[in-house]
Amino acid sequence: MIKSLKKRITKISCIGAGYVGGPTMAVIADQCPHIKVVVLDINEQRIKAWNSDNYDKLPVFEPGLKEIVLRSRGKNLFFSTEINNNIADSDIVFLSVNTPTKLSGVGSGHASDLRWIEKCARQVALASSGHTIVVEKSTLPVRTAQTIKTILGSSSNKKKSFSVISNPEFLAEGSAIKDLQNPDRVLIGGEDPVSIEQVADIYRHWIDDKKIIRTNLWSSELSKLTANAFLAQRISSINSVAAICEETGANINEVSLAIGSDTRIGNKFIKSGPGFGGSCFKKDLLNLIYLCKYFGLKEVANYWLSVVSLNSWNQNRISEIVVNKLFGTLAEKKIVILGFAFKANTNDTRESSAITISKNLLIEGAKLKIHDPKVSSDQIKAEFNLIDNKSNYQNIYKEDINNGSWEKIDNIYDAFIDADAAIVLTEWEEYSSLDWEKISKLMRKPSWVFDTRSIVNNNIISKTDINLWRIGIGPN
Ligand code: NAD
Ligand code: UGA
Repeated sequence: MIKSLKKRITKISCIGAGYVGGPTMAVIADQCPHIKVVVLDINEQRIKAWNSDNYDKLPVFEPGLKEIVLRSRGKNLFFSTEINNNIADSDIVFLSVNTPTKLSGVGSGHASDLRWIEKCARQVALASSGHTIVVEKSTLPVRTAQTIKTILGSSSNKKKSFSVISNPEFLAEGSAIKDLQNPDRVLIGGEDPVSIEQVADIYRHWIDDKKIIRTNLWSSELSKLTANAFLAQRISSINSVAAICEETGANINEVSLAIGSDTRIGNKFIKSGPGFGGSCFKKDLLNLIYLCKYFGLKEVANYWLSVVSLNSWNQNRISEIVVNKLFGTLAEKKIVILGFAFKANTNDTRESSAITISKNLLIEGAKLKIHDPKVSSDQIKAEFNLIDNKSNYQNIYKEDINNGSWEKIDNIYDAFIDADAAIVLTEWEEYSSLDWEKISKLMRKPSWVFDTRSIVNNNIISKTDINLWRIGIGPN
């Protein structure tokens, strides 16, 4: 066991200035004014954007984030590309780099690509001085801490020492600041009790100690992966029930309310939709599946695999429904896509269901008019151009999305001119108060609205000549 002396923490660095590193460190800096917090990244553009004078240009959009950055930046919060210098005098280094699914080689399509985390560990081994607490903030396969320990331990400089801590992040995008300021729990796994307490001390500045869970390293790493797997499993479950509702005349919102009123089940994470998106659920499930197979747990792997498969099936079934309702062909038909982000209140489009559904419609020859209040045209283009993950459980586009065309529209009402259909894919607030009477006059007849987020008011739309399809609601 590693033993270290409890030292006052005066400087923290975080490698990775992304969706997690940026907001998490901003909140730590805000809550701990006596600690210098430096967020580091190799991506110069990203660091430049974090340092931008225009706070609306920060690289991550999160409600409440810009106010916090405004309060702390330049005082005790800094964003920099000077990685080695900052590691050298840091007491704690958080690793918050990307851990996407591996795209080639052993474990391709399932295992996490750990090249960035390994690079960070090597960099910390080289640039650090004295005793450094290295904190895994990224979501990692269970036992990654062993790899990090091995790399750190191979440093020939005997004046250096390290403790490795696992402190996974549970924030959800769109509510990141709220989640960081008032988390359900903080999880700290480690071997060295002193280092565990030093990390806990940081959080104790604003979080009750009762919410801080201490575990061993492996429990902490595994809890993060499985927490995401449980959440994703609830969404696949409710989406499977939505499909049954559509066949039977049951109403998914009524069923969700009835199921969720049982306190043992709870009412969160049972909202049906187009399928879960976001950078983590699918990647973490695939990683869990990989680990299960690695440990010879085939049945367990298959269980979690069904959660991913159901999600892909759900995304594809929505585009099929659109095609079927529009007489089996979308060639030359204008379709409005309402929302491209994977959920409301974020500009993140990674793994958004809108990508799969839009691509399916483009293959059918549709002309898409895409609206999203926070997503840029360049970002949509990048998503359409991405080479799909080679996993069997991802959507592989063998057909040509250039059969159709797309453009980003800023004024929602312009998008509806001569449109045949609109699909609500992200639950942005503004989509729940659209003027459907005005829209019905703009659309070509017969016109359809497909609501995958249950936010369109049926009473209002039924007064127009628009046909409405709602997820999880079948014929009476
Ligand atoms: P991200 O891609 O937004 O950010 C990662 C950043 O790390 C990038 O800016 C990249 O340039 C930088 N980076 C990579 N290698 C580097 C290196 N060697 N040196 C310096 N910088 C480097 O990723 P994210 O969404 O912030 O996720 C980070 C981790 O947190 C992942 O493991 C993810 O699973 C986990 N996580 C994400 C969320 C979320 O909501 N996005 C929530 C909880 C956990
Ligand atoms: C999720 C988890 O909620 C976080 O706890 C975790 O830290 C994070 O992943 C991570 O590890 O990256 P996030 O992906 O940001 O957070 O957003 P969620 O709110 O979980 O939504 C994920 C997807 O599920 C979205 O597409 C959302 O629309 C969908 N969803 C969510 C539903 O379809 N129904 C629901 O009831 C809830």
